[in-house]
Amino acid sequence: MRTVAAFLLVLCYLAVSDAWRCSEGPRLSTARQIDAGQGKVIAINSYGYVYFLIGSSWYRMSTIRFRHASLGPAGLWATSNSGNRVYKYIAGNFVVSSGLSLQQVDAGGNGQVVGVGSSRAYCLRSDLASSYKRSGSLSWTSLSRVMKYISCGKYGCWGIDTSNRIYFSKTLSPTTCGNSRWSLISGSAVMVEVGTDGSVFVVNSSGQVFQRLGISSRYPHGTTWRTVSMCMPVRHVAYDLGTLWVVTTSGLLMKCTH
Ligand SMILES: *[C@@H]1O[C@H](CO)[C@@H](O)[C@H](O)[C@H]1NC(C)=O
Repeated sequence: MRTVAAFLLVLCYLAVSDAWRCSEGPRLSTARQIDAGQGKVIAINSYGYVYFLIGSSWYRMSTIRFRHASLGPAGLWATSNSGNRVYKYIAGNFVVSSGLSLQQVDAGGNGQVVGVGSSRAYCLRSDLASSYKRSGSLSWTSLSRVMKYISCGKYGCWGIDTSNRIYFSKTLSPTTCGNSRWSLISGSAVMVEVGTDGSVFVVNSSGQVFQRLGISSRYPHGTTWRTVSMCMPVRHVAYDLGTLWVVTTSGLLMKCTH
């Protein structure tokens, strides 16, 4: 399997896309999810273990098995494989919280944490996210919206609903979690990742990757989608500081730059 995958990667290099050049990322056996923020990169493998990238090696951070992990201005947050419990990384350990079960969390916004649980979207105010320092209850605000994936960055938050529709809110307040007004964006996707700098990438249900173009403070929702050619179907992407990290459906990790 590994040999076949490596061969496919060689074919990949031949099909270099115009905008992004990809190569195999640091080896992690069957990667499932990846996130990057503030220069740091974490990934989850098929067992649910979270790894931290140092140089070109992955280091396991915990023996707890996770479904999803995210890092950014709000710190490092994760949801467990069993029970969807929410954890924050504190002093070298993942510390569990009570209050809400979430399947996915995102720490990439302006200090707030957002996430989805039982298909509703939630937000944790930036003051509560930053001050959480020992096991206890967290008070999440419901965004009164059915979503299966949510991610925030510099210019606002992007969400995907259960029908793969894409939504954007520029008004969600990081300090109050209030005032979210969502507008429908063209296209269809199963996941969306917003870089802390505001860059937006989605993956559609066929595993194709798209980048949102034209994003600025004047046009926070951008203008159009551009295909990021990948030679294998993609499961998950993350973006930080010019690097696009890609996890293929076959569990390979790729690192792409402009
Ligand atoms: C995913 O994107 C590709 C490329 O644009 C397109 O051909 C395909 O129909 C899309 N799949 C879905 C389910 O939207």
